[in-house]
Amino acid sequence: MNSIINNNLDLKGKKVLLRVDLNVPMKNGAITETSRIEKIIPTIKLLLKKEAKIIIMSHIGRPKGKVINGMSLKPISEKLSLLLQKNVFFSENLITENTLLEINKIPNGSIFMLENIRFNEGEETNDSDFSKKISTLGDIYVNDAFSCSHRSHASVEGITKYIPSYFGLQITEEINALKKITSEIEKPVSLIIGGSKISTKINIINNLIKKFNNIIIVGGMGNTMLKHTGSNIGKSICENECGSLIKEILENSKKYNCEITIPKDVIVSTSLNGKGKEKNINEIKDNEMILDIGTKTISSIKQVIDNSKTVLWNGPAGYFENPSFQYGTKKILEIISEKTKSDKIFSVAGGGETVAAINKFNKLNSFTFVSTAGGAFLEYLEGKTLPGINALNQNV
Ligand code: 3PG
Repeated sequence: MNSIINNNLDLKGKKVLLRVDLNVPMKNGAITETSRIEKIIPTIKLLLKKEAKIIIMSHIGRPKGKVINGMSLKPISEKLSLLLQKNVFFSENLITENTLLEINKIPNGSIFMLENIRFNEGEETNDSDFSKKISTLGDIYVNDAFSCSHRSHASVEGITKYIPSYFGLQITEEINALKKITSEIEKPVSLIIGGSKISTKINIINNLIKKFNNIIIVGGMGNTMLKHTGSNIGKSICENECGSLIKEILENSKKYNCEITIPKDVIVSTSLNGKGKEKNINEIKDNEMILDIGTKTISSIKQVIDNSKTVLWNGPAGYFENPSFQYGTKKILEIISEKTKSDKIFSVAGGGETVAAINKFNKLNSFTFVSTAGGAFLEYLEGKTLPGINALNQNV
């Protein structure tokens, strides 16, 4: 592994382009959970010690090449500055010819953060001109964003073609831990998958069926499963265009002997800020939305966990940010935590929303391993080669 740790690089005065994942949960412009910021601090401190000039690149949200108010990294640069007790120069502009002039002005051993890299058109399209352009901002590139390494984007993949590239400390730790876990996995193995990012994850489920004994589908994906198996889910979030994929998931689950569990009962409300009401699936009204799982579903999840040796979890069971809808997520956490502590299971959790839930309920030390990655974690479990990691391995 071409890592910045095992390379005795002289970085004094060198411009280090550092790709991190600062896609943290925000509410009304305020950061609600800071794990992803805290996790990159060791890499930053190492680079500062080496008197490098650090240029931080990250995204937040999915602005798709447009500048979107509310998706600026400015509040995150302020938080990072506070955590490090050090000034972070922030560039409010898109990347232009002037960006390098701005960077050249900063002293050695200081930090410069670029605005949301996804505001630039060429980022998500992995445009080669844009990749080349960002590579000219630094002398070396470091990827410390395992959680974005499943994306073939310019700041993750394209850039490595034009500049010497290295693994950071955090990405190295995550890869080593996940390598160990996937090679030592003990069956029966169960996956709990939920959360609100449905579109990319629904495909992954179909591929994971072959590797798992049980898949429990909750959250936005649970809604999608319910809808495409004939239930009325009212105005709940869901993916509409995936009827045939759900059919395939159900057929494959039989073929590969993977038990799929979807909600039997749920907590509904007419608004995100409202109070919840427990209902069976066939009782949901058109003006209601599913915001948590119900008690019968929690019991069946407990049963699955009780019969597992390994439990992997990505995505909360409901809108846990509102205490009225946190019970399902909290219960899952308690069950996994208790089983892990009594050495009954090996447990791994991953994902931005999942880590936020784990922190909210103070369960960080209750898992065998907690990854910051969600989509990347699932794709790694699928056995896929992640483009960002592949690119670093090629760049030696
Ligand atoms: C994540 O939160 O999983 C990463 O930041 C990747 O975000 P994305 O799914 O928008 O690419």
